[in-house]
Amino acid sequence: MESNEKKRILSMYQCTGTFTLGNYLGAFKNALRFQEEGYQCAYALADLHAITVRQEPAQLRKYTQDAYAFLLAMGIDLSKTLFFIQSHVPQHAQLAWILNCYTQFGELSRMTQFKDKSAKHADNINAGLFTYPCLMAADILLYQADFVPVGADQKQHVEIARDIAERFNGIYSPTFTVPEPIIPQHGARVMSLQDPTRKMSKSDGNNNGCISVLDDPDTIMRKFKRAITDSEACVRYSDDKPGVKNLMEIYSCITGKSMEEIEGEFAGKGYGDFKPAVAEAVIGELRPIQERFKEILQDKDYLQRCCRENAEKAGSIAQRTVSKAMKKIGFLPMK
Ligand code: TYM
Repeated sequence: MESNEKKRILSMYQCTGTFTLGNYLGAFKNALRFQEEGYQCAYALADLHAITVRQEPAQLRKYTQDAYAFLLAMGIDLSKTLFFIQSHVPQHAQLAWILNCYTQFGELSRMTQFKDKSAKHADNINAGLFTYPCLMAADILLYQADFVPVGADQKQHVEIARDIAERFNGIYSPTFTVPEPIIPQHGARVMSLQDPTRKMSKSDGNNNGCISVLDDPDTIMRKFKRAITDSEACVRYSDDKPGVKNLMEIYSCITGKSMEEIEGEFAGKGYGDFKPAVAEAVIGELRPIQERFKEILQDKDYLQRCCRENAEKAGSIAQRTVSKAMKKIGFLPMK
C-alpha cells in the first residue's frame, strides 16, 4: 500500500460566525487526525464562499481572524500543515472562473445547498450562490487533493468537483487529481439539539439548538439539559430516537466509545444522567482549546505572519496548477 505521505488532503471552512460543535466533530477532529497520520494537509478559511450571503464587513474580518486563531488553538501544526485564508490566494478565484466554463447549468441547479440557501435568502439569490460549487472545485483541484474530509452535507459538492475534474481531464489530458470525499462514521451530521431532524448550524434561528465552540461551560450544560429527546427515558441508539441518537453520536465522537458501550454505561439510567454526561464531555474537550484560543488571539503579529507565510506557500502550489490548466486550454502565455 502507498504511504500516506504521498496523499494530499484539502478541506476548508466558512468563517461566517463562530464555529459550531458540528464543524468541530464533523470536520476539525478529522483534520487533526490526518495531520498526525502523515498526509500532506492543506486547510483554509473559505471567506470568498462566505460572501455568497451578505456579510457585515467588520464582522467578517473578526470571524475570519477568530477562526484562524481557533484552528491553531485546536492543534493545526504549521510545521506539517498548510493553513491559509482563501482570499489571500487569488488563484482560487482565477481557477473558479475557468471551471465555471466546464460546468453545466443543469448540474449546478441540482445542488441541494443552492436550493436550501436560495429559499433561505430569497432576496439575494446571486450568481455566486449558484456557482459556489465551481469555486469549491477550484479549492480542491488547485492542490491536487486526493481526499477531502467533510461532513455529510458537503458530499454532493465534492462529487461535482470530481465530475468537473474528470470532464476537464477527458477534454485535454490528465491535469487534475480526481478527489474523493471522506465522511466520518460518527459526527458526519451533528443535528440541532432543539430539532434533531435538522443539521446543527450557525445560522440556526434557535440558539439553544446550536453549541458554539466558544460557549462557556454553563451555557453548554444548559443547552444539553434542554436538548429534545423522547419519552422512553432509555439511552438506546435507534433511528426512531433522533434526539438520543444525536447525543450518543456526540458522546461517542468525544469519548471514542462505541454505541454498545454507551448503552451499557447508561443502562437503567435516564436522560437526567445522560444529558449532563454528554455536556461534561463536550466541556472537557473544548476547555483547553478555548484557553489556547484566548492566548493566540492576543498575538496579532504572530497571526498575521502565519497567514502571510501560508498564503505565499499555498500561492506557489496553486499557481503551478493554474498555469498547467491554462496551457492546456490554449491561453497565450505571457513571456
Ligand atoms: P461549512 O463551512 O458549512 O462547514 C465546514 C465543515 O464542517 C462540516 N459541518 C458539519 N459536520 C457535521 N455536522 C454538522 N452539523 C456540520 N455543519 C458543518 C461541513 O460538512 C464541512 O466539512 N462549502 C464548504 C466549505 C468549503 C470546502 C471547500 C470544503 C469551501 N471550499 C473545499 C471542502 C473543500 C462549507 O460551506 O462548509
